[in-house]
Order: sequence, then structure tokens, then C-alpha cells
Amino acid sequence: MEQIMKVENLSISYEDKKAIEGLNLTIFKNKITAIIGPSGCGKTTLLHSLNGLIKENPQVTMKGDIYLDGKNTRQLSGDELRKSVGLVFQTPTPFPFSVYKNLTYAPKYYGIKSKTKLDGIVENKLKMVGLEEELQNQWHKNAMKFSGGQQQRICIARALSVEPEVLLLDEPCSALDVKNIEIIEKTLLSLKKNYTIVIVTHNMVQAKRISDRVIFMKDGKLVEEGETMEFFEHPKEEESKKFIGGVFG
Ligand SMILES: Nc1ncnc2c1ncn2[C@@H]1O[C@H](COP(=O)(O)OP(=O)(O)O)[C@@H](O)[C@H]1O
Ligand SMILES: [Mg+2]
Repeated sequence: MEQIMKVENLSISYEDKKAIEGLNLTIFKNKITAIIGPSGCGKTTLLHSLNGLIKENPQVTMKGDIYLDGKNTRQLSGDELRKSVGLVFQTPTPFPFSVYKNLTYAPKYYGIKSKTKLDGIVENKLKMVGLEEELQNQWHKNAMKFSGGQQQRICIARALSVEPEVLLLDEPCSALDVKNIEIIEKTLLSLKKNYTIVIVTHNMVQAKRISDRVIFMKDGKLVEEGETMEFFEHPKEEESKKFIGGVFG
């Protein structure tokens, strides 16, 4: 297994409030890693630190290091890091304009001008999230006019529009119905050929179903990380056993 991101001794506070403490973990390439743990344990904070978004908050202090492809992300600009590590939020957040503009906004920002290329990106990314047919002839319709599930897939396509290496998703299915959850899970499984996926989920059945690896956090600390089946069938830590037992028991 090839490593793609590494977190070393990461601690994050919002003013006086510690959110993450002494976190060490590894993200492996072309795998789906599920981040799980009780509400408030620091999952969102971790995702926002992986793509640098956390630094936009002036109340945040961050210690420790995050590596991408062996390079310390402190050496990357915000733009560079966000291009390599994309983020999809819990509630679908398309920009309030056309699907086409949603999907070409970032590529244009990073310098792509050719209309043929931009059209190709839109077509290719909509295909990757299974929207190619559903959105046929609707590229110029406002993205907010689609269903929640379609909006979330538009957001995934938008995050992929600049070819990130890593795609982070923060409870992307929490506002969706079963049918749409199924489509998103299928999409994520097909995407791991080309991308590395990190998904925060409170749904343990989902974590079991789609992830290769699990990172279990509690109170801002790592409790256990490992292969998904191993984690659920033979958890090593007492805390993990209690958590799994609580959810499934
Ligand atoms: N913007 C913020 N300002 C102050 N405290 C925050 C902020 N965001 C999160 N926290 C606190 O940091 C801790 C971790 O939060 P979060 O990363 O959102 O956890 P999770 O996503 O696992 O529910 C919580 O105690 C939360 O209250
Ligand atoms: Mg959260």
C-alpha cells in the first residue's frame, strides 16, 4: 500500500478549546478511508486541516505536520493544497449558477481557457458521478434547481474538476435518501481507481460497506486505525469495542 498523506503529531485548538490532540495517521493511495467517532471528536476539524481550510479561521492554532506525497503541506500555498485535496461538505453547496459554471469555475481559475477542454471536463466529471444522462441538455440550468442527491453529486463533480489527488467528503450522505446514498456509494467505489477518498461518516454500516480502512477518533485523539474488516471484527482497543458494540449491539 502506497502512502499519500501523513499526519504527524497534529494538534488543533479553536482559541482555548482543544479539538485535536497529538494525532498521527496515514492515508493510503487509491483506498477509501472512513473517519468515524462520536460527534464532536474532531472529524470535521481533521478534514479541514487536510486541505488547509482550517488556516482560514483566525481563531485556530495548528501544531504538527501534514504531508502530501512526502512534501510538508506547509510548503504549499492554499491554492496548491486545495487543488490537490478537494473537499465536499455535509450539505450540498453548489454555487447558485449553472452546472456548467459550477464545474468550470475552478479549472478556469487554475488557468484552463479552451472551451473544448472545459466542455470535456464537464462531460467527463458528470459521467464520473453518474449524472451524464440525468443532466443531458441541462448543463446551463441553475445547479440549485436539482434534487439534493443530484446537487451533492454536482458538488463531487465540481471537487473533481481540478483533478485532485485526494477527495475529502464530510458526511456527504447525511441529508440524502437511501436511493441517493446508494448512487453516491457506487460513485465513490468507482472513483477510487483514480483518486484517494477520505469520508467522514456517522453511518457504521456505510463505513463497513464502502471503506478499505477505518480511522476511529475520540475526544480529538486517534483510538485505532486499520483495515475495515479487521477493525469491525477484531477491534484492538477497548474504546473501539465499546463504540462498535454501542452502534451495532
Ligand atoms: N469554529 C469552531 N469554533 C470553536 N470550536 C469549534 C469550532 N468547530 C469545532 N469546534 C469544536 O471542536 C471540537 C471538534 O469539532 P468537530 O471537528 O466539528 O467534530 P466532529 O466533526 O467530529 O463532530 C468540538 O468540541 C467542537 O465544539
Ligand atoms: Mg463534523
